[in-house]
Amino acid sequence: MLLQGKRIIIGICGSIAAYKIASLTRLLVKKGVGVQIIMTPESKEFITPLTLAALSKNPVLSDYYNPQNGEWHNHVELGLKADLLLIAPASANTLSKMAQGACDNLLLATYLSARCPVFFAPAMDLDMWKHPTTQANVAKLISYGNKVISPGTGELASGLVGEGRLAEPEEILEFIVDFFSNSLPLKGKKALVTAGPTYEAIDPVRFIGNHSSGKMGYAIAEQLKRLGATVTLISGPTSLPKPAGVTTIPVLSAQQMFDNCKEYFPEADILVMSAAVADYTPLEVATQKIKKITEDFTIQLKKTNDILAFLGAQKQKKQTVVGFALETNNELENAKNKLIRKNLDFIVLNSMQDQGAGFGSDTNKITIISKNNQESKYQLKSKTEVAKDICRHIIEHQNFINS
Ligand code: CTP
Repeated sequence: MLLQGKRIIIGICGSIAAYKIASLTRLLVKKGVGVQIIMTPESKEFITPLTLAALSKNPVLSDYYNPQNGEWHNHVELGLKADLLLIAPASANTLSKMAQGACDNLLLATYLSARCPVFFAPAMDLDMWKHPTTQANVAKLISYGNKVISPGTGELASGLVGEGRLAEPEEILEFIVDFFSNSLPLKGKKALVTAGPTYEAIDPVRFIGNHSSGKMGYAIAEQLKRLGATVTLISGPTSLPKPAGVTTIPVLSAQQMFDNCKEYFPEADILVMSAAVADYTPLEVATQKIKKITEDFTIQLKKTNDILAFLGAQKQKKQTVVGFALETNNELENAKNKLIRKNLDFIVLNSMQDQGAGFGSDTNKITIISKNNQESKYQLKSKTEVAKDICRHIIEHQNFINS
């Protein structure tokens, strides 16, 4: 997901290790990356453009223009469009030319004109790698802001054993994933999200519940995860699959949700309380199934803890606390009261009067009201898109309190 839609240029130099780029290309394409291969003329002796074009699903570039039809391969445009330029394997010769600013092939011209981050993964014989000239070139390239994916140690093509092997495709992929995830806006942040209904037991077979599907909270948890946060999702009973990469803690009752929230909240930077928590729970839970003996039947209820009000009162400076309000009437007024009463940074209001908003559906129509009374009204959208709008507000608030 992280790499989906990213555009990566891989520049291949003349080295035996060029074969490893076939596997790397496959790994990247599988992750949804658009791969553009640029080969130096020498590299074509080591691996064929045909192999790489088939794996990258893109024609391979090597010359400034196509001699058959005169089509110009614009190196400036290539460098501008890319999210990353990876030069792998980077030969001693190409590293030297990059350090000097030489520009005698399409790859070097693309490197010089690229505005995106540049990684290079050297591969060469151990003595070439150790040579002070190569080391000086590498140091110079690093000082320009390029990042090196260091070569590994092992048996080299020459038969000698030492440092100089191109990093394995999986290692290069890990480097790329780390790079993109470190640049995510919520990297290093912990988020706590609640979702779904709670079930309040009446007896061993019956409960009081509500129609919440959990879809909104799950979409928010997924979105926060995509933005780099470490997410804990405390979920009431739903039929939704657990979101990948999110720690999901299933609970049943309001009390269980309260206990878990109390545990995770102090560590969290972000709390999104989207669960539809029961306001009342049976005063007593029958230990055996209640029989239908009497004509009328009354269950006495007691108030549950207001989880959000409890946590809001303990809010620390680093925390963004978000609540929800599902209202049927006096929407704005009720939501604003909740915002103040529960000490929130903002509240997400959905009205039951809006078609397609609220419980069960895949869409929602929200208004976000912030502590300083700013109102942002949104159109009816999918819950995924709504989650993105909410997360934009969260990022803005986190940036503000951390500035
Ligand atoms: N909430 C909570 N604990 C409860 C009840 C609600 O944490 N026991 C949270 C919800 O998750 C939501 C916000 O408080 O983020 C508002 O919930 P809502 O049911 O709209 O408001 P209430 O405070 O319960 O008020 P009322 O039901 O009277 O409208």
